[in-house]
Amino acid sequence: MMADKVPVITLDGPGGAGKGTICLELAAKLGWHILDSGSLYRLTALEALQKNISDERQLAEIAENLDVEYRCNEGQLQILLNKIDVTEAIREEAVGCKASEIAALPAVRAALLDRQRAFASAPGLLADGRDMGTVVFPDSRLKIFLTASAEERAKRRHKQLKDKGIDANLPQLVAELKARDERDTGRKTAPLKAADDAILVDTTNMSIDEVVNQVMQMASQRFGTIEV
Ligand code: C5P
Repeated sequence: MMADKVPVITLDGPGGAGKGTICLELAAKLGWHILDSGSLYRLTALEALQKNISDERQLAEIAENLDVEYRCNEGQLQILLNKIDVTEAIREEAVGCKASEIAALPAVRAALLDRQRAFASAPGLLADGRDMGTVVFPDSRLKIFLTASAEERAKRRHKQLKDKGIDANLPQLVAELKARDERDTGRKTAPLKAADDAILVDTTNMSIDEVVNQVMQMASQRFGTIEV
């Protein structure tokens, strides 16, 4: 498996635990690639919503044949689906909900497996998701499980939305996050759970810098050659 040759750090955990932010910071420090696996589920969900499809086999076909391009535009990641910029569209709540629904379907997960593994290329990969350490890159030598309390995660999401000028209701965000957690944790195929050999990092009372430094130290211990 690729993970044997290319170093892979897996970062799994519930939504809002800070995986995306931490991955970006780590990628900048290490010069490694990023797999935002959630975006693949969101892209599949968006196309399914556009085509009004909910049959598992057809959803898997969409996942298998996604025409997606990840582009770096002035330091910002841009995501194109069928040549159209959907960077913002896939972050919408309705798309997130549909993503979490279709992510419970084994055929959809299977259809995205090879595409995710293909992200592992030199000099290394930071894989962000729910099952990176358990299913997609089980041979990874550094697995992190990032958590934070639902209240703290909702607060962060609230701030993010506020910064974008979007007014959100905090108790509602807490409820939505908990519902998503339950769906991700309770599903039969590749449920959200820490790999047996994952290191648990609770970020509830940690700053981004503290988390990044902690993971950088672990990476340095595991992979040796990385300078912190
Ligand atoms: O991480 P993000 O919120 O973008 O993921 C959207 C949804 O996709 C999650 O709620 C989860 O249900 C699903 N997902 C998954 N496995 C992954 C990444 C995301 O099931 N590796």
